[in-house]
Amino acid sequence: MPIETTTSVVSEIPDGAELLAVPYSSGLDPALPLDLHVPTAALLAHYEAKGEAGEIVEVPVARGEEVGRVLLYGVGDGSPKALRKAAAALTRRAKGRETLTVVVPDGAGAAFAEAALLAAYTFKVGSAPGKKPVAALVLAGADEQEVRRGEIVAQAVALARDLANTPSSVKTPAWLAERAGEQGVPVRVWDEEELRAGGFGGILAVGQGSANPPRLIQLSYDPPGATRHVVLVGKGITFDSGGLSLKPSDNMKVQKTDMAGGAVVIAAVSALAKLGAPVRVTGLVAAAENMPSGSAQRPSDVITHYGGRTVEVLNTDAEGRLVLADALAYADDTLAPDAVVDIATLTGAISVALGRSVGAVYSTSEELAGELLGAGKASDDRLWRMPLIDDYAPALESSVADLANVETGSRFGAGSITAALFLREFAGKRPWAHLDVAGVGRSTVDEGVLTKGATGFGVRLLVQWLSP
Ligand code: BES
Ligand code: MN
Ligand code: ZN
Repeated sequence: MPIETTTSVVSEIPDGAELLAVPYSSGLDPALPLDLHVPTAALLAHYEAKGEAGEIVEVPVARGEEVGRVLLYGVGDGSPKALRKAAAALTRRAKGRETLTVVVPDGAGAAFAEAALLAAYTFKVGSAPGKKPVAALVLAGADEQEVRRGEIVAQAVALARDLANTPSSVKTPAWLAERAGEQGVPVRVWDEEELRAGGFGGILAVGQGSANPPRLIQLSYDPPGATRHVVLVGKGITFDSGGLSLKPSDNMKVQKTDMAGGAVVIAAVSALAKLGAPVRVTGLVAAAENMPSGSAQRPSDVITHYGGRTVEVLNTDAEGRLVLADALAYADDTLAPDAVVDIATLTGAISVALGRSVGAVYSTSEELAGELLGAGKASDDRLWRMPLIDDYAPALESSVADLANVETGSRFGAGSITAALFLREFAGKRPWAHLDVAGVGRSTVDEGVLTKGATGFGVRLLVQWLSP
């Protein structure tokens, strides 16, 4: 597994803990488990510590003949968001150490463990040079159950990151299906022939230019007594070169993470099953590699989606919506869900609109949008609601098919919105939401709970939504 840091919970601080972290907030005198020989309030004042989350004051202490260190860490307003920030800062400060012992505030076990572990995430192919993350976290006074939850969530985010960080030469659609099969829930996989027999024309068209054939992957978690059935659909483009509408070479490399939505679906279903969430969840990952070749689809081709709708492919780089359309139509037709949520690195336009920290949610249901926005706030996978502007629907009219996959020209613009309008055509009449995570799917910095590369954005959100 990617996170090698282990956690354990103890009721008392072990004698001689080499690196001990104790929380404080502004104006509070932390109850220290050892004597620093200076009044703590004066010490914090001396360092001009404000108690903000992420702030750490290091104090040397005598450890027999040696010198140990106490880290006084600020917890801000004590909210889960602040605690995550504090936990990530501590893990980063303890880099290269064997053990970090932390006194955890009451009720903070889950948020603390989750963020501390995520800050320790690394991805390297081969032997990793450089300082290793702290090897062991000892959480003093934390609740076992809470810590266990934080661990499950962090491991799921790490799985999503691992899948998205894996080079595309390795992660073919078939490889992704194998990984889905390892999550302890029943999986059904459609190979190329089965996709053809089932009428999945979008997934097939996108995958037809690649030597690595496409797959549709279905994961099922069906606990006894579930009252609600939710379908999660993920975009699983294992590499997006653009196809014959080839992307410029500069940033093509980031398109190895174009299956980040699919990875989130696999990881979220896995975590929900481990947590015993009281909801039936079906995950669908529409997996294909978008490549240019003699067998690739051409701009101007007309394809027939699951359910019979035809689409004129004007730009082969607008491929995410083509694979998602099949999966959405299939979910509506055969799975009778109470709600459908898709997650996709769908458009470059959304990072222009919302940047790298906030994901987009579009929805046909006020209630579903509200639930997702709330879960985003609570989990720190922040969302902003975007509008489905009906006036822009003519952008996707085609003269030869039911729909075009992109607008010809730029009368309407709004690339993320028109992409969402395209998907809406296939979602049916059920409550549906679409998450465009192209901006938040990758991080360019090592900071807080994020590491450079895939973020796993959406795992914490979906787990919070379905298993609060
Ligand atoms: N996978 C891309 C979107 C993307 C861009 C993800 C940058 C991550 C970083 C998607 O398939 C795509 O190519 N979208 C096009 C749509 C356009 C052709 C209408 C885009 O955003 O340019
Ligand atoms: Mn594309
Ligand atoms: Zn793409």
